[in-house]
Amino acid sequence: MIRIGKKRLWASFFCFTAVFFLLVTLQVVLELGQSERKIKVSSLQDGSLKLEEQQKHAYQFFNKQELYSNTRRVLDADRYPILLWWSPLTGETGRLGQCGQDVCFFTIKRTYQHNHMTRAFLFYGTDFNIDSLPLPRKRHHDWALFHEESPKNNYKLFHKPTITLFNHTATFSRHSHLPLTTQYLEGIEVIKSLRYMVPLQKKNSLRKGLAPLVYVQSDCDPPSDRDSYVRELMSYIQVDSYGECLHNRDLPQHLKNPASMDDGNFYRILAQYKFILAFENAICEDYITEKLWRPLKLGVVPVYYGSPSITDWLPSNKSAILVTRFSHPRELAHYIKALDTNDQEYEAYLEWKVKGAISNQRLLAAIQERKWGVQDITQDNYIDVFECMVCNRVWENIRRHKKGLSPRRWNAQVNHLSCPKPEAFLFSSPNIRWTSLQEMWIPSFEQSKKEAQALRQLVERNMNFTAQEFWTLVFKEET
Ligand SMILES: *[C@@H]1O[C@H](CO)[C@@H](O)[C@H](O)[C@H]1NC(C)=O
Ligand SMILES: *[C@@H]1O[C@H](CO)[C@@H](O)[C@H](O)[C@H]1NC(C)=O
Ligand SMILES: *[C@@H]1O[C@H](CO)[C@@H](O)[C@H](O)[C@H]1NC(C)=O
Repeated sequence: MIRIGKKRLWASFFCFTAVFFLLVTLQVVLELGQSERKIKVSSLQDGSLKLEEQQKHAYQFFNKQELYSNTRRVLDADRYPILLWWSPLTGETGRLGQCGQDVCFFTIKRTYQHNHMTRAFLFYGTDFNIDSLPLPRKRHHDWALFHEESPKNNYKLFHKPTITLFNHTATFSRHSHLPLTTQYLEGIEVIKSLRYMVPLQKKNSLRKGLAPLVYVQSDCDPPSDRDSYVRELMSYIQVDSYGECLHNRDLPQHLKNPASMDDGNFYRILAQYKFILAFENAICEDYITEKLWRPLKLGVVPVYYGSPSITDWLPSNKSAILVTRFSHPRELAHYIKALDTNDQEYEAYLEWKVKGAISNQRLLAAIQERKWGVQDITQDNYIDVFECMVCNRVWENIRRHKKGLSPRRWNAQVNHLSCPKPEAFLFSSPNIRWTSLQEMWIPSFEQSKKEAQALRQLVERNMNFTAQEFWTLVFKEET
């Protein structure tokens, strides 16, 4: 039994690694290879609507300037603290970055690991790899983690033993040092805008040919198990599904190319609907994507499943229908049918937009106070801001040291990145059909806890280690 279990785990680990490697390679190739046009690559990650995100990533390569020539770089690296990206993310071999009064040298070149000026290692969550970590870690080596993506991309970071290895964080959690919770929202005016909004009378007449609800996903069977829910929902109410998951309706020919997903034309199709199923691929506090903001932009009511505390971020207290308020998809269907035939009740969900009245102060403040922009080349992007946050903190401690003061301590807390174990919906009875949740996501979440323990143990030993040592430790208890 044990042997078989172990073999299966190894097999799934290798599959995982292969897929992960592919993803990272794709991403890196993309990010390094193109600067002007970002092409929609794959439905591998979050399928349907990744374009926005890729465009967003593209900006980081636009607004950075190489301040100095190659020859001077070597000298500069000797004068300024070095912040070493332990990831190919930025593609920058060496750049002096000005962060307010402070200047730091940013690089991805690992040859700087042992340089006496190296003060911080910057990690990117999605490609964070146990292989070849920068160990031994010196006292003055801060570790900083940037992780904005879905937790499905690297579970082992989401546990106390690993997240607390870091000093500085930028994650989707409001608790992190640089919260990226609103990373998919360009600005308040975008959700206030009436540009795409279709009048209710028109929507009512379109209902002859359209379902009340629309669903567009091409990343099927993610940890949130959204497809199980939507499948069940479909037996009580009509849903038009344009994506690969639960597909039952085709997009017009000219929109079939995924690159056109962000097209105004695509928006106009969605905007004709009364409700959009906005289900995240994973359920974590503050993990909120364009799935929520898009319907709000378009003037369609989101039927939301995702961050449990989403009401903290909604524009008003009547702007979305929350799936968790209903005990069964049947009840939700019932409620939507009622709204579908009651114009006044339906319009109550759009009143905030028509009036331009966003009552949520937390949301307004977050957008106003954030120092980075989304798809906005006139503002810094969040990677620049993250780099500068670490640079300023490193400098603060250098100055304290010069004055003979003890350094200011920074440590990531467990709530900077934490997600509960993926769960099946209560209504769904197990064993009815194969689900990726039971077969893959839950076991992989459970295993990631062991990985987190093992990683912690090896990092605390403070000597470099091989992948083999790591996996031996992970599977130790089972043999
Ligand atoms: C919702 O907003 C209205 C208007 O701002 C307010 O009167 C009401 O108390 C709010 N309800 C909740 C549950 O917050
Ligand atoms: C960074 O974190 C490590 C590990 O928790 C800790 O030993 C070190 O003191 C921290 N550095 C700072 C500047 O807080
Ligand atoms: C640890 O690092 C040293 C020096 O870079 C290298 O020679 C050695 O092979 C590494 N050991 C492991 C286990 O990776």
